[in-house]
Amino acid sequence: MITTFEEYKKEYQKSIENPEAFWDEIAGQFSWKQKWTKTLDWNFDEPNVKWFVDGKFNITENAIDRHLLGRANQTAFIWESNAIDVDNRVITYQNLHDEVCRVANTLKSFGVKKGDRVCIYMPMIPETVFSMLACARIGAVHSVVFAGFSSSALAGRIQDCDCKIVLTTDGAYRGVKDIPIKAVVDEALETCLGVEKVLVYKHTGTPVFINKERDIIWQEVVPNALSTCTPEVMDSEDVLFILYTSGSTGKPKGVVHTCGGYMVYTCYSFQNVFQMNTEQNSNDLFWCTADVGWITGHSYITYAPLLAGVSSVIFEGVPTFPDAGRFWKVIDKYKVTHFYTAPTAIRALEAQGLDFVTPYKLDSLKVLGSVGEPINEEAWQWYHKNIGKEKCPIVDTWWQTETGGIMISALAGVTPTKPSYATMPLPGIQPMLVDEKGNEIIGNDVEGNLCIKFPWPSMIRTTYGDHARCKQAYFETYPGLYFTGDGCRRDENGFYRITGRVDDVMNVSGHRIGTAEVESAINAHIDVVESAVVGYPHDIKGQGIYAYVIVPSTTKNHDILKKEIIAEVNKIIGPIAKPDKIQIVSGLPKTRSGKIMRRILRKIAEGDVNNLGDISTLLDPTVVDEIVKGKL
Ligand code: PRX
Repeated sequence: MITTFEEYKKEYQKSIENPEAFWDEIAGQFSWKQKWTKTLDWNFDEPNVKWFVDGKFNITENAIDRHLLGRANQTAFIWESNAIDVDNRVITYQNLHDEVCRVANTLKSFGVKKGDRVCIYMPMIPETVFSMLACARIGAVHSVVFAGFSSSALAGRIQDCDCKIVLTTDGAYRGVKDIPIKAVVDEALETCLGVEKVLVYKHTGTPVFINKERDIIWQEVVPNALSTCTPEVMDSEDVLFILYTSGSTGKPKGVVHTCGGYMVYTCYSFQNVFQMNTEQNSNDLFWCTADVGWITGHSYITYAPLLAGVSSVIFEGVPTFPDAGRFWKVIDKYKVTHFYTAPTAIRALEAQGLDFVTPYKLDSLKVLGSVGEPINEEAWQWYHKNIGKEKCPIVDTWWQTETGGIMISALAGVTPTKPSYATMPLPGIQPMLVDEKGNEIIGNDVEGNLCIKFPWPSMIRTTYGDHARCKQAYFETYPGLYFTGDGCRRDENGFYRITGRVDDVMNVSGHRIGTAEVESAINAHIDVVESAVVGYPHDIKGQGIYAYVIVPSTTKNHDILKKEIIAEVNKIIGPIAKPDKIQIVSGLPKTRSGKIMRRILRKIAEGDVNNLGDISTLLDPTVVDEIVKGKL
């Protein structure tokens, strides 16, 4: 682990000068059944990236079995339920091993084999993590779908990667809500005929429909399964998981991560960014508040903390239930030392006032983290002062579903921090700023589009079932470079600040949502002729969703229509994609070739109406006046 700024600089240099030797040494710290024959094989044209070629191992042996000698009775997870002070569970590394093996054996009894895809649509309970690891144990590929997605979004993801098995629960608690998620699965499966078995963990007690041919109750089979399961021997480049994420066009794509590089990089980034004491029986306790339905949960709830052998918290609930002091209460309750959350949560809690913070000591905290979206300076200062009591470094971690692990971030207490700056790249990461034409922008105090010019172990390998799409989305814009889709500033000291997406992807409450996806959901409403969706600045969510919608002039009641449009979006994607503002318009600003000028719509939604730029190339410039007049 890097412990001084000097050491960081040395390691960084080493990682750039001789990446293979650098990663060889780090990968050597894991347990392998067979050592790799070649560290890296790559080109960004196809693209083709392979790390630790021919290496054989299983990630769960490294995340679980490796720790059983010394840490069998150490806590792997503390589970804090949605409800307060009831049902909390402590899972030791030994318990984790046994539970993961039981689920793995159950999956095997269903006929699941190496390479088969398994969909996990579950809330934040330990069984969800067991399920992911059980897949990894037997070489099955997990595809976790956030349990807030609608049945139609779930069905699309199940179909895209052809899952044979779905794991779910009867229901999910979220604050005061009890959501019947098995019913969502039932609806999704009406169009997913390839699914053979559904394993249902009874969690909330909500009555569920049982299809006798297909559905099996977890509690009736898993506890009877054997608590040992020989790990499948996996190749470094075998697929570990698929995770769907939104892009600027079309449907969400299945980002594919493979076993070896993902293991090495998530663990390395975790250890260095968070600087936890990983000694046996250390009192350090990590808490990442993300949902495992997103990459943050995959990397920094399920995999990295276990690979590093630490203890962490899994939280089922929401930050505002039963009140806005929940996070701080849980930190005191378990003495959390390392806390990792999203700016949107910080802003939402800040808005509730300090009365929810002051009852708690928060004196166990050592390090604070931020992820998912740019953290504005005000939220950074609030977090620093009121939660970190000005003694906890804040690591603002920039990364993406596609990068697998944290790419640009301070190393807690080791490298400098700067409010609203992710600061410096981790060793092994070679960021580059380019202009619109792809020319490198050199020097400091500059701004451009953020690319990465050299592979790192946990990078995306392909988009499931469509390699051409992977190439087109990430490697074609600037040939020879991985393009992140983010804009970025490099300050006078070389610190990086991510300024937000430069493509048609929005970041709403830290959730990545494509404008095209929302438009297509809105357009599914029978009265909608056409729509255009853009993001706009939102105090709490970071970005809100602004939809411009054309309906026939005969449509009478716009209020009812707007409600119906929101219902349509809920149905097709889920509540996270619900438009915050819907403006009914009679036309959209289009170029003569029919392309919607989103730049103009974005400016209007932002309220920057005096600065719309050149609109003379529009097919009908008068629509702009009308839209400006009707702005919400
Ligand atoms: O725009 C960046 C933003 O989130 C995007 C990636 O979203 P997703 O794949 O869902 O992964 C989120 C969790 C890793 C990025 O392209 N983003 C993520 N972290 C930051 C950020 N923007 C600014 N600062 C960050 N720390």
